[in-house]
Order: sequence, then structure tokens, then C-alpha cells
Amino acid sequence: MLLGVNIDHIAVLREARKVNDPDPLQAVYLAQRAGADQITIHLREDRRHINEDDVRRIVENSPLPVNLECSVDPDIVEIVAELKPHRATFVPEKREEVTTEGGLDMHEPNFANLDKAVHYLKAREIETSLFIDPTIEAVRAAKTIGAEWVELHTGSYANIFAMLYSNLSRTRHSIKTLELERSKLKKLLQKALDELRNATEEADEFGLKVAAGHGLNYQNVKAIVAIEGIEELNIGQSIIARSVFDGFEKAVANMKKLIS
Ligand code: PXP
Repeated sequence: MLLGVNIDHIAVLREARKVNDPDPLQAVYLAQRAGADQITIHLREDRRHINEDDVRRIVENSPLPVNLECSVDPDIVEIVAELKPHRATFVPEKREEVTTEGGLDMHEPNFANLDKAVHYLKAREIETSLFIDPTIEAVRAAKTIGAEWVELHTGSYANIFAMLYSNLSRTRHSIKTLELERSKLKKLLQKALDELRNATEEADEFGLKVAAGHGLNYQNVKAIVAIEGIEELNIGQSIIARSVFDGFEKAVANMKKLIS
């Protein structure tokens, strides 16, 4: 299974002090040394972490393929077309959110915007991916648009897992809608995994390549790795969090080992 390391949070640390350190490009070289297969970065409309200078330097210098997450905003799509990453992954974006909260809205009028943006980048030889919720309906819509990849949103699975098997529910960041009995949470976890498995099967049948990501960590990744058909995982926050104590290279290498 391929590992895309999302290094946005290196830039989060830099932006916390508005300085030039740590440099996300340095993380690219270390990630490669540690066995990563891809670098993933998100050029958000509010530039809260990665900015276009980062993207330019990373695309120009990275020995690994660069997967650039972005919205369908026409200004952003134009920047992506100019910077030419290996792949563009379209994600939904809301200014006020802490992180991407769900998959893309695959209905009109967003469907038409996605269709246009995918074809615009494909014509410029940039591979495309759509970050979608793990539903059959979303997979079918993605197939209609013609992106090469789908990335299945694992956030719901990860949230349920955290409420069941970590101390999250006893912290101020407990997820209120998931403050449920353990038996109920276990059923929800199974349902989330079944949805991911079914969506993967459907995408596979359509010839779409399947990636997955969001909220994956050293504890919850095992069940996702077991889903046949998922080729790649994009993982960020948990790797950067682990790096604080273990060092970045070791954190990447351990994740790669877990998913291989
Ligand atoms: N994949 C996509 C499409 C994302 O938007 C993100 C978060 O930027 C990730 C993967 C990585 O998520 P996490 O940081 O929770 O591992």
C-alpha cells in the first residue's frame, strides 16, 4: 500500500510564528528517505499553512510525486494548472472549518464545477482525484466526471474509532454526536468500514483507482489496510504529531511499515 505523507502541518508550525522554519521542503527529502511514496499538500484558499511558494518549490524539487489538494475555485484551479503537480485532488473547502469535514458535494451545481475543473487539468496532463464520501452514489458521480482517482473520506470511521478506543470522549474535543453507548459505537464502526469496502469495490469495478484518507493514525489504520482495492493512503496529522516525540523520519517509516 502506497503512503502519501501530508506535510501541511509542518507549514502550520511555521505559520504559528510567521517565520521561515520549519521548511516543508526539508520534510519532502526526509519523507523520501523514510520510504514515503508521495507528498500531499493542500493549497487552501485562506493559505493557512501551505502557500504557492511552498507548492512551487516542492513541485520543482520533490523526488516524489506531489499530490496537491485544492478546491474548485477558478483562481486556485488556475494556480494548480500553472504549478503542474503530478496530481490534483479536489476537496470541499469551507473557510471556517478546522479541517476538511466531508467529501465533495457531487450534486449540481458543484458537479458541473468539478467536471469543468477536472477536464481543465486533465487537458494539461495533470492527473485528477476526487475526495468523496464512501457512498455508491458518490463513486458513480465521480466515474461520470472521469477523474482517474477517488479518495475515500475516512473521517467518519476515524471519529467513531477515536470515541471507542481512545480517551477523546473524556476531553473537551469529545464528538457530541458520537457520545453513545459502546455497543452502538461498535455497530457504527462496522457500518463505516462496510461503506468504505463497498465504495472501494464499486470504484474498482469502474476502473477508478482508490485512495483513502483523513483522520488515519497508528491505531486505526489496520482495518483500512485490510480493505482490498485501496491502493494509497494519505496521512498527515498523526504522522506530524508522532514526529514531535519520535522524529519525522521515524514517524514516517513506522507508518509505512504498518501499512505495507
Ligand atoms: N486526504 C485529504 C483529501 C485531506 O483533505 C486530508 C487533510 O488535509 C488528508 C488526506 C490527511 O488527513 P489527516 O491530516 O487527518 O491525516
